[in-house]
Amino acid sequence: MTTTNPSASTGRIARSGLLRFVRSAAIFFRGFVENPAMVASVVPSSQATIDAMLAKVDWSRCRLFVEYGPGVGTFTTRILDLLPPDSRLLAIDTNPRFIEFLGKTIDDPRFEAVLGSAADVESIVHAAGHAYADYVISGLPFTALPKDVAEGIVAATYAVLRDGGAFMTYQFLPTARDLTEARFDRTDRGLALLNVPPCVLAWGWKDEAVAVREAAE
Ligand SMILES: C[S@@+](CC[C@H](N)C(=O)[O-])C[C@H]1O[C@@H](n2cnc3c(N)ncnc32)[C@H](O)[C@@H]1O
Repeated sequence: MTTTNPSASTGRIARSGLLRFVRSAAIFFRGFVENPAMVASVVPSSQATIDAMLAKVDWSRCRLFVEYGPGVGTFTTRILDLLPPDSRLLAIDTNPRFIEFLGKTIDDPRFEAVLGSAADVESIVHAAGHAYADYVISGLPFTALPKDVAEGIVAATYAVLRDGGAFMTYQFLPTARDLTEARFDRTDRGLALLNVPPCVLAWGWKDEAVAVREAAE
């Protein structure tokens, strides 16, 4: 007869969680040392930031979620916890070390890690077989990007979102929020104080009413 010891399996899960945390912290720090401007932070985002950002998502209307700059997957794993079973998550990052780490550590058929730039989101989404994205979340260091590249990413994001979808950003400076307010139909603002350092949050909405009006003009 086989018996299982629940406390032994709980201990294994806790140890594997701790191991992933230590490995991801080491890879994130190495990514920062190799490319400080593009990673822009020594530590990943806090749980408070993740919870605040994702609180506005209507998961029942989410078929495709796109993440820019996942790093070692701080948001990614939480998004997968909340994502419906038949939906997909595409994570796009320019750093091959992060993409390799995500591919090795996240075993989920709904997930794909793509080595590339957020600037190419439209072709990446279409190549993955989708017409549009429902939500896009960005951890990109917009302040470190050339202005035309940053504006191009926000414009491409607006174009790839469905009507009623949202572009969500978290950044230490208000650059991403300002760019979002300049392009999106309406923007909600927030602040995550429990983050190192505190973080400016923004949700840019592509309004269904505005999209219908623009299409008619
Ligand atoms: C501040 S880190 C965010 C990490 C993680 N999302 C978090 O919250 O802890 C910024 C990430 O953006 C990525 N990145 C920078 N420029 C990019 C671009 N144009 N397209 C996609 N990813 C980019 C970097 O490689 C890095 O992983």
